Amino acid sequence: MAAAATIRLDPEFTIGPLRRRLFGSFVEHLRRCVYTGIYEPDHPTADEHGFRRDVAELITELGPTIIRYPGGNFVSGYDWRDGVGPVDDRPTRLDFAWNAVEPNAVGTDEFLQWCGRLHLEPMLAVNLGTAGVREAMELLQYVNGRPGTTIADERVRNGHREPYGVRFWCLGNEMDGPWQIGSKTPQEYGRLAAETGRVMKMFDRSLQLVACGSSSRGMPTFGTWEREVLERCFDQVDLISAHAYYEPVDGDHQSFLASAEDLRRFIASVVATADHVAAVHKSDKQIMISFDEWNVWFRQRFAAHDVERVKAARDLIEDSYDVQDAVVVGSLLIELLRSTDRVAVACQAQLVNVIAPIMTRPGGGAWRQTIFHPFALTARHAKPMVLDVAAKGPMITTDRYGAVDQLHSVATYDEQTGELVIFAANRSRADPLELTIDALGFGSQLTVTEHLVINDADPHAHNTEETPARIVPLPGTTRLDNGRPTAVLPPVSWHCLRLATR
Ligand code: AHR
Repeated sequence: MAAAATIRLDPEFTIGPLRRRLFGSFVEHLRRCVYTGIYEPDHPTADEHGFRRDVAELITELGPTIIRYPGGNFVSGYDWRDGVGPVDDRPTRLDFAWNAVEPNAVGTDEFLQWCGRLHLEPMLAVNLGTAGVREAMELLQYVNGRPGTTIADERVRNGHREPYGVRFWCLGNEMDGPWQIGSKTPQEYGRLAAETGRVMKMFDRSLQLVACGSSSRGMPTFGTWEREVLERCFDQVDLISAHAYYEPVDGDHQSFLASAEDLRRFIASVVATADHVAAVHKSDKQIMISFDEWNVWFRQRFAAHDVERVKAARDLIEDSYDVQDAVVVGSLLIELLRSTDRVAVACQAQLVNVIAPIMTRPGGGAWRQTIFHPFALTARHAKPMVLDVAAKGPMITTDRYGAVDQLHSVATYDEQTGELVIFAANRSRADPLELTIDALGFGSQLTVTEHLVINDADPHAHNTEETPARIVPLPGTTRLDNGRPTAVLPPVSWHCLRLATR
């Protein structure tokens, strides 16, 4: 028999308004994310700008809101000037970060205009590895400057009269990482971020600037890095970045399923550190988190140290995801929604081909990986207010995080329509769970309008180009017990439950 779990919801118990930038994604110049991913001029579906329409349609269905660009590690060696102006005049460069030849056929204008056509908000990163304050000033003027200066007029000549009005800017990428081109100590980086941020805010005070936090919670300087950096650039920045990638380590699938517990602790630590710096500054300013890289990534399979292999690879980090990975991605999204009070932006890394929900074949098809589905359903159905869920239920034991709740859930509510949407994951590898939703605070007229499930008898089933619909969301079954919806959640499953409260 399935163990029982209950969640209690009340319209008065809120975490805060849903930040739709939590449904962000990431496009890096990293092998097939751009070239033969979003952009492939010879493809039968290519538009007049060379971008794939079939991929664009899947992106629209996925529903990301904000897209970070152009890196990632790539940005730390990138000269943005290489990517603007007539394409035939652009240089071909060696990208040292990923050992690739960069043709520069896609650059800032192509990316920003593609975002405009797809109604996506761009988030740009400036190079603080090999470049600095001056390049950031020039890129900012090129992108957001009003016509009438040489740099802004260059953009006009390149075909875009109006400033793009990009609001979110990352001050470098993973500057603590020894692998990063031009990596820095926190003292060096904190000062550079402060100087770059200061001048960018002279241009426009309303810009939202992201300082680099640690590359992961596992970095030896995690915590100290955030403190040292924020102590130096607290007044100039608005957000601090966080990056997290998860995978089963040494076959420990149960801990992997509980990865959101790591995300929760990670966010709590960064918030505590940022608030400590605010206290020292005698300031009420709340530095927000930009979780601008997160996903499942089988890093152990990626031989980053094997430079010759990386150089030779036509494609890189094209992980294929199974049902269990989709449940983890769904659960990570649940945790991000639960953190809407302090996480302002989150970008799944990446969008196409490279650790991505969407895959393509050059000249061929495009298909949805398993992880596409929890992202698309959450982005489509999450409502404007995130509710605090009072959950009671069994615990599971994990080697990595100790005891964690078997049920992981969040609820969102739309006051206008009365729609209540609950996202839930059963994180057990072995045991089903009977979930009862006690939402009587919303009245007694509850009805279940839709229940969709990601689950399969084989938790390691994948989608492929040949079987793109092997894993899709399927209808779940929910009964009403005394006005309380009750559903059985199989092991390793993720759910979207839509309820009408009137
Ligand atoms: O997303 C892949 C890489 O992971 C990014 O380039 C880098 O920022 C991170 O280490």
